[in-house]
Parts: sequence; structure tokens; C-alpha cells
Amino acid sequence: MKSQDELKLMVARAALSYIPVGGVLGVGSGSTVAKFIEQIASEGIRVGRAVSSSNKTTAMLRDIGVEVVDPNTIDGYDVYIDGADEVNERFEAIKGGGACLTREKILASMARTFVCIVDKSKLVTQLGRFPLPVEVIPMARAQVARTLRAMGGEPVLREGCITDNGCEILDVHNFMIPDAVSAEDHINSIPGVVTVGLFARRGVDVVLYADDEGVKVLDNDSTLL
Ligand code: A5P
Repeated sequence: MKSQDELKLMVARAALSYIPVGGVLGVGSGSTVAKFIEQIASEGIRVGRAVSSSNKTTAMLRDIGVEVVDPNTIDGYDVYIDGADEVNERFEAIKGGGACLTREKILASMARTFVCIVDKSKLVTQLGRFPLPVEVIPMARAQVARTLRAMGGEPVLREGCITDNGCEILDVHNFMIPDAVSAEDHINSIPGVVTVGLFARRGVDVVLYADDEGVKVLDNDSTLL
């Protein structure tokens, strides 16, 4: 049986074929994406330009010679490649385990195609086993936490975590999410919330997932589970 690390490497390699020739590539964050960037370098793949979802990803891309541009300088772009913490059968995801959810959501919203790269353990029938990250403005932390508690969740401040935007993360435990679109709308409407790590309104277009047999491709015409 393959380790999660091996599965992440397999799916990272498979994502190389989605890099647009001569176009702009959107690059997410996290350990699967880190492997994807390593593969770009080791395979000598040429990336025209990139937009990046975190300071860490920007540094990794620049280290391998990829030009990273400000998203404000482009109107949109072709392909965004990123991992996820959970993906359901409606191609909705939880993201933000690496605290980069807001920038990830911005880049996903600008992309024509969002390719999500995961190992099979991330596929779920219902979102919420993974604690839901919510980025908050620090002065609103306690009030947002009260509201999330009233919604039935158990928010926990991610200790020692300041996001690239200078904000904090509340991880909401024990909060199963049968309707991700309405949960996304509801949580995003709480004053002080920068964004919630639910990617439902702008979900995933293509899921690449790795299991022991190899990498499988699902697009929004396929059945996920
Ligand atoms: C980063 O903020 C996240 O959205 C990541 O995409 C997600 O946590 C998946 O990370 P791994 O690839 O490390 O599992």
C-alpha cells in the first residue's frame, strides 16, 4: 500500500500535463502543490508566468525561475492547480489547512479551470470532518467565534498562525456541512470574516486523485465516488 506522500507525488506528477503552454498558471499552496512545483523543476517544464496563492508558493516558484505576476495585472487565466483538504461528490471543497484560503479563493475565482490534486483520502460524501478554516480579522475573532458556535460549530483559534494577509484562522470542528453553498454564503456574511474555506460557489472543475492503482481524473460530468 502506498503512503500518502507517495500518492501526493503521483498526483502532483499527473498535474504537469495541465500546465498551459505559454499561458498563465495559477498555483495553490500546501504539501501536494510543493511536490508539483518540485516536479516542474525536475522535469524542466517551462511555465510562462504564474500567479501564486501564498508567499511560500511565490518563493518556491521564483527559486525555480518561474516569473510570478500580480493578479491585478491580468484579466483572468486558464488553469489553477491546487490541493484540498476535502472534496465532495458535487465538486465542492474545504481548503485552508495551510492558512492560504483567501488568496486561493481569489485565484480560483479568476481561473477558467480549477484542477484539484488530492489523494483518495480527501474524497468525502459530506464536507466537515476536516475542521473548516475561517480567516478572520483579529479584532472580530471572539464575535465571529460566538456566531460560529451559535451555528453549531466548535471554533478553535489556530495558535501562532498569522496569515499572509495579517489575519487569524478559526478552525471550526464538528461542523458537518450538508449544504456547502448556503454555509459559504452564511459564514462569509459574518462581519469580520475575510473568507471561509468552503469552495462551493466556485467549486472544482477537475479532480485528479491518486490511489494505489494510479491517478484518476474526474471532471464535473463524472461521478466522484
Ligand atoms: C492550503 O491553504 C490548503 O488549501 C491546501 O490546499 C490544503 O490544505 C491541502 O494541503 P496538502 O496538499 O498539504 O494536503
